[in-house]
Amino acid sequence: MLQSFSQVTEDILCHPKFQALRYSEHHGGENTLFDHSVDTAKCAYRLAKRFRLKEERIEAVTRAALLHDFFCYDWRSPSHQRYVRRYAGLQRLRRMHAFTHGALAARRASRLFPMDERQRAAIKSHMFPLAPLPRSSEAWILTLADKIVASREMSAAVGYHMRRWYHKVVPAH
Ligand SMILES: [Fe+2]
Ligand SMILES: [Fe+2]
Repeated sequence: MLQSFSQVTEDILCHPKFQALRYSEHHGGENTLFDHSVDTAKCAYRLAKRFRLKEERIEAVTRAALLHDFFCYDWRSPSHQRYVRRYAGLQRLRRMHAFTHGALAARRASRLFPMDERQRAAIKSHMFPLAPLPRSSEAWILTLADKIVASREMSAAVGYHMRRWYHKVVPAH
């Protein structure tokens, strides 16, 4: 029988290194990497059920989705920016966060949690078209879930910044 979302994800959600994602801002506004990862996993769980994947594959893609951005560094930090600027042209492009973090997240996640090759490949390709072509249903579901959630978060962030700007320029009565 298919396990519930909480049963599938409980061990990851409780892990202190995963909990630390609560302190990383993501896609602007008040959104964190923790929120983004949980929402992406929920979306992947729903999509996998809708596409009638087998139970074990629904569970596998849900866990992969939860860990898809488990890269755990601040790509906006001056040290990361300095690292990228050490390179030029194509070399710099290849080291930019958008191109590299899928592979880093897959590596880091598999050090802490049991994962199979299909899950690792799905995480690595989630930034498609900036990453390799997704090669399984799980990988396509993960990239789709990430894009659905990211676009929702970015529109929420635009609203958040517009409200802040409005309150700054229009003084309260
Ligand atoms: Fe990502
Ligand atoms: Fe993401």
